[in-house]
Order: sequence, then structure tokens, then C-alpha cells
Amino acid sequence: MTTKTVQLTLDPNQEAIELPVYSGTLGQDVIDIGPVAKANTFTFDPGFTATASCESKITYIDGANGVLLYRGYPIEQLAEKADYLEVCHALLYGDLPNATEKQAFVDKINNHTMVHEQIHNLFNGFRRDAHPMAIMVGVVGALSSFYHDSLDISRPEDRDIAACRLVAKMPTLAAMCYKYSIGLPFLYPQNDLSYAENFLYMTFGVPSEKWEPNPILARAMDRIFTLHADHEQNASTSTVRLAGSTGANPFACISAGIAALWGPAHGGANEAVLKMLDEIGDVSRVGEYVKRARDKDDPFRLMGFGHRVYKNYDPRAKVMRETCHEVLEAVGASDSPKFKLAMALEKIALEDEYFIEKKLYPNVDFYSGITLSALGIPTTMFTVIFALARTVGWISHWKEMVSSPGFRIGRPRQLYTGPTQRDFVELADR
Ligand code: SDX
Repeated sequence: MTTKTVQLTLDPNQEAIELPVYSGTLGQDVIDIGPVAKANTFTFDPGFTATASCESKITYIDGANGVLLYRGYPIEQLAEKADYLEVCHALLYGDLPNATEKQAFVDKINNHTMVHEQIHNLFNGFRRDAHPMAIMVGVVGALSSFYHDSLDISRPEDRDIAACRLVAKMPTLAAMCYKYSIGLPFLYPQNDLSYAENFLYMTFGVPSEKWEPNPILARAMDRIFTLHADHEQNASTSTVRLAGSTGANPFACISAGIAALWGPAHGGANEAVLKMLDEIGDVSRVGEYVKRARDKDDPFRLMGFGHRVYKNYDPRAKVMRETCHEVLEAVGASDSPKFKLAMALEKIALEDEYFIEKKLYPNVDFYSGITLSALGIPTTMFTVIFALARTVGWISHWKEMVSSPGFRIGRPRQLYTGPTQRDFVELADR
């Protein structure tokens, strides 16, 4: 990394502190604030709006220009030309695979798509109406109890097998959540199907019927996985990195990422978009809700709009919008009232001066919910699918961090504004 320096003067009577400035291959420079601690001072950045938490070579986002690159490849090109397992290879190992590497990777993933039979018993501990994200947090964390022989994070082969197991098993576990919720039997993966076909088979197939993949729906599902595969240092990825910095095993770290993704401000937004569209109900009420979203005193926000980084159109939303049209066409729901309502909401929001001023554009979640709904996926499973797709991003960041030479525990400090020291008061005197 090339460096220059900036001077920081905390006390005019003392020498200025020299802070190194690093430039990456793309994007903003960063100021190394390490020397500030020596001056017994901390930097303060709640919400990390101006903080680069790490160095990474995996994903690059340019929020002002709506650019998203996985290992340098534009998301639009990957979504159109690659399949999800090729994208997984690029995220995990640094580049798209050639034909031999791709076949070897597909075979490796296929070797791990099944889960231990004892995992079925874990599901039985949940109510049938348990939110599937609650089940996923539990069962993914519990996976570590099945692989005692390969959890040494200092061994590259253990890191790699854990990553492949997670990518391979997430569709199986996600489909099991759905089957468990509707009281139908779990289906075992069929490895002659593609990754996306296998997920749709395990989700919608039944033992008593032959199941044929629909290539348009399978391609759409595969593209949804690619669009959600990684996104730099978002809240759930940062959670995985912080958990991993303690040396926790990869399954526990991914379980932490699933928990963080569940929030409606993050991965729970696609589920929240559908709930919002149901609440709005009719195009005639869109103006009322846009007005509420502008009202500072009203906690209502337009779910699926806005982004911490994108102050332009989310490039994933553009691809997601096209995929949404394809799926609605394929399932004969092009004139779906929900999609028409979403189009009306998008048009009005994009023309509203508040949204223009705040640079609030539709994000990936705005269209993914409608698309998943058209695929027949229940709303409660939307974030599970987001977690399925994002697991490769989480584990790629985990691998990058754990294998980096400067790997150490993350431990932020704080600005303390609580009581100054005071003596204990006996109960009788309080
Ligand atoms: C994801 O980080 C990632 O990369 C995440 C993600 C990924 O792939 O990992 O891209 C996935 O999480 C996408 C975002 C999904 N969330 C939603 O759609 C929920 C609705 N959006 C908002 O909650 C919000 O936009 C966030 C959480 C996404 C971003 O929040 P920020 O960056 O903290 O922005 P902010 O809340 O400070 O908003 C800035 C201003 C505020 O007004 P002021 O305080 O400046 O007056 O914009 C307003 C907000 O009130 N605002 C909205 C709004 N989003 C922001 N007003 C109405 N409706 C909205 N949706």
C-alpha cells in the first residue's frame, strides 16, 4: 500500500501526531489512526460511517456511482454470464475457475450437500411455527458439534473444508426449515441437479411426485444467490469478522452472521418490503405512505429504499428488477397487483424531492421479496435465502481475515458518559 501522512494536532503545546495514509487499488484512501491511541485519545464513529475496519481484496463498492465488483468482476456481468458456484469459487479462491477447476469445485460441493441424520432431531426441538431464521441460527451453529476433526482454524485444509461444508449445506438446511414449517418430509439433495435446482427441488419437491426443474425459475434463483453473495463490510459480514477475530469456529461465526442479517434494517428488509406492500394495499395509498416516510416524527420507513453506501441506484436492484419481470412472466403473474403496486411506489419515491435529496434509491431487497414471492417462497423464508446466498461472502471474509498475518482480536473502545466514581450505598440508606 502506498503511504503519505497527515498531521493531527490534539494539543497546540505538543508535537503534531503523524498519521499514515494508505491508498488501495480502488476507492477512498484511509488514515491509519493507530498512533492516536498513543496520545491517550480515541476516534469516535458510531455506526462506522467513516471507518474502514480492515483491508480486503474480495469485494469493492462505489456507492456514488452504483458499482459492485466481486474480485474485480462487475456484478452485472457475473449475474448475466456466471453461475453461483463459479461466483463462490471467485469469492473463496480469488478468481473464476477454468473448466477443470469448476468441475472439481462442483464435485467438492456436491460431496457435502447432505447433513448428519442427527441434525433432523434438532429441528424437532422447534415449534412448527418457529421463524426459520431462529432455526438457522441454531442448526448452523450446531454444525460445529459434528466436525471436531476439522476445526483447527490455523490449518488451511480445515478452513477450506469448513467453507465448502457451509456453502454445500446451507441450501439443504434452508429447505429443511421450509419443509419442517409445513409438516412435509425432508428431501435429500440430488447431486445430478445444479445448486439452484437442488435447492428448489428440496424446497418444493415431495417424495410421492416426480419433480422437474423449471430452467427459467432455476436460473432466476441462481441469479438471486449471486446478487446476494457478498457486499463488503456490511453489518453481518462485520459480525462474522468480529466473531472470527476471537478464534471462534467458522460455524459459530456464520451463525452470528445469520443472527445479524435477521434485522429488518439489513437482511430482514426483503420480508419487511412484502409486509409494507401488504399494509399499503393499494396504489391510491402510496402517496400517504411516502408522506409518512418523509415525516421525521413517524418511525415508518420505506423498506427496500435507502442504503448506507449506495447513494445511487443499487446495481443489484437493476438486475433484480429484470429478474423479477422474467419470473413474473414465467409464472404468469406479470399483472400481479403486488408488482404493480411496487412499480407505482418506486416511481413516486424516485420523483419525490425528499428521496432525491436524501439519495434514497431502491436497494436489492425491494425487488427480491416480490421475486421470491412469485417463486412461491413464503415471506418468512426470504431472509433465510439471503443467508444461504451470503454464506459464501461471510466465509470468504472469515478465511481472508483468519489467514492474514496481522490477524488479532477486534476490541473497539468507547466514549464514556456514565457516572464518575462513587462509593457503594447500603440498601438501608438508598
Ligand atoms: C441491506 O450494508 C449493506 O451492504 C447491506 C446490504 C447487503 O447486501 O449486505 O446491502 C443489504 O441491508 C440493504 C438495506 C435494506 N434495508 C432497508 O431497505 C431498510 C430501509 N432502509 C433504511 O433503514 C436505511 O436506508 C438503511 C438502514 C438501509 C441505511 O441507513 P443509514 O445509512 O444509517 O442511513 P440513515 O438511516 O442515517 O438515513 C439517512 C437519512 C435519514 O434522514 P435524516 O436523519 O438525514 O433526516 O435518510 C432517511 C433517514 O431518516 N432514510 C429514509 C429511509 N432510509 C433512510 N427515510 C425513509 N425511508 C427510508 N427507507
